[in-house]
Amino acid sequence: MSTTEIPIGTIDSAAAALLDSRLVILPTETVYGLAGRADRVDAVARIYHTKGRPSDHPVIVHVADYQGAVHDSWASGFPTLAQELAHAFWPGPLTLVLPRGPRSGLNVTGGQGTVALRVPAHPIAQAVLRSMDEQDPQGAPHGIAAPSANRFGKVSPTTVQHAITELSPYLQPGDLALDGGACSWGVESTIVDCMGERPMILRPGGVTTEDIATLGLDPVTISQPTTRVPGSLASHYAPRAQVVLHEFGALPADDVPADRQGFLALAEIETPAGMHRLAAPKTSVEYARMLYSALRAADDADLLLVVAVLPSEVDGVGAAVADRLRRAASPR
Ligand code: TXA
Ligand code: MG
Repeated sequence: MSTTEIPIGTIDSAAAALLDSRLVILPTETVYGLAGRADRVDAVARIYHTKGRPSDHPVIVHVADYQGAVHDSWASGFPTLAQELAHAFWPGPLTLVLPRGPRSGLNVTGGQGTVALRVPAHPIAQAVLRSMDEQDPQGAPHGIAAPSANRFGKVSPTTVQHAITELSPYLQPGDLALDGGACSWGVESTIVDCMGERPMILRPGGVTTEDIATLGLDPVTISQPTTRVPGSLASHYAPRAQVVLHEFGALPADDVPADRQGFLALAEIETPAGMHRLAAPKTSVEYARMLYSALRAADDADLLLVVAVLPSEVDGVGAAVADRLRRAASPR
């Protein structure tokens, strides 16, 4: 397998590459995405190939703003519930599941009658979408399909280097990356299905159940969605090291040498003797921000085991941290 050198591009060169059906590693405020033009079958097919992702799993379409989202090309309708959520939380870490529009191909939606749309807040993602519309006004509003820029089932990247290291062997000359520094949220967007009467949370993230409830809405959380949500597979977001959740019992575990064990917990919890501290976040928000780089650090240090203590408040973004850690700890 030859590794392609992936250059760091500019906003305009990345937008031109996307218009030309090439792929771009793109920062968002949640995690880095592997972006491709959402209305081009060849670009979307390359996203699946590059990630090693099964073709029946849908991807999120990212658009520049609310106007681009309500334009009837991507979604064929925008229920009142979705309008309320969009007005409150876009741009931001929120993805809405809506009826599929004519421009959202079945390859984007995994063959389903719904499409997932998101307006990212990251200034680079915003600028790229706007540059696409400027360079090709007839195609506006452009949309980019962008799953997290990691191989299927692995940990999402929160820096450009993580994404480049993981995907370079599968990318091609002409593909680019943009460096937006470390992602401010660190976990993927909240996904809300807006097809029913009540908002259905398919994946917890930065926009929390409590945030949604402040609008007077009554969200339900689905732990096993019936639609295909790869992040909902039992084992996902997993490093090479085995992840276990620490509930009770003595640490370090006695079946693995202590110096091959990592420890992940809020700063207030001390590191057990001999274990490798992976992160010491002070709050749930910091925990989310550090989570994936801590799991990657475990693999870089060749650890065999990561013992994680869930954040004490599992409301707010702590719920997203707990969700990802449970999946990372699921049997493969
Ligand atoms: O924060 C994020 O959402 C990141 C950044 C890059 O935007 N993207 C991301 O994409 O996490 P990905 O592909 O790794 O996860 C997208 C999730 C999947 O779990 C997928 O199944 C779900 O969105 N999804 C996409 N379309 C859907 C649909 N029509 N119905 C239900 N779930 C859908
Ligand atoms: Mg993902």
